[in-house]
Amino acid sequence: MAKLCVNIDHIATLRQARGENFPSVIQAAKIVEKTGCDGVTVHLREDRRHIQDKDVIDLKKILKTKLNLEMSINKNIVDFALKVIPVEATLVPEKRQELTTEGGLNVIRYKSKLKKIIKIFHQKGIIVSLFINPDLKQINSAKEVNADFIEIHTGHYANAKNKREIEKEFMKIKKAVYYAKKTGLRVNAGHGLNYDNVKRIAQIKEIEDLNIGFSIIARTLFTGLENAIKEMLKII
Ligand code: PXP
Repeated sequence: MAKLCVNIDHIATLRQARGENFPSVIQAAKIVEKTGCDGVTVHLREDRRHIQDKDVIDLKKILKTKLNLEMSINKNIVDFALKVIPVEATLVPEKRQELTTEGGLNVIRYKSKLKKIIKIFHQKGIIVSLFINPDLKQINSAKEVNADFIEIHTGHYANAKNKREIEKEFMKIKKAVYYAKKTGLRVNAGHGLNYDNVKRIAQIKEIEDLNIGFSIIARTLFTGLENAIKEMLKII
């Protein structure tokens, strides 16, 4: 059965919007662990729009499960990861203007750079996953650079507009998962997964972790809003 790693970036988005010290990502991470998830995922973006360096350092200290750090291959971020040593590093492409990670990493293009980074990460005991589109050529390169995992980008499947498109994107994912397993890579998946579209992906038994963030954090507003208002009314 696929396990769940919850991406808690948007707890930090809310905190940064007011420059407060709450809501706390540590408190969120503790809830993620208490509910039996496989780990906590955060993306330390180059522009630090949500997760901050201190969040990653604090999470590494308190987590009993897995810290999966999503990160670009920018030198400063790589150096930071080498200091913190997350259990797993998921390498992603990053553009300043994007709202979220838009596409998969071009492993073919950055082959030699990735090979070097992965070698250093392995020396520090960091498991390395490469976030890629369901593309067989990218999978071959992921194997060549000695990645442990690939994370299949499920964004195109999640954004597909009609049944035929959904089916097409789903089949690409399935084919990529089987192909990656055959080449000896382990497989995670994520991006854009929500309460409506996750089931079919979760049924692909070769997938180990699903990294899901936005839909879960967005859902908490309406599973928690009523109680939050009631608590305030009681005090007033
Ligand atoms: N996996 C990767 C590599 C990501 O970059 C993200 C977004 O930060 C996710 C999973 C989670 O995506 P979502 O927030 O759409 O669930």
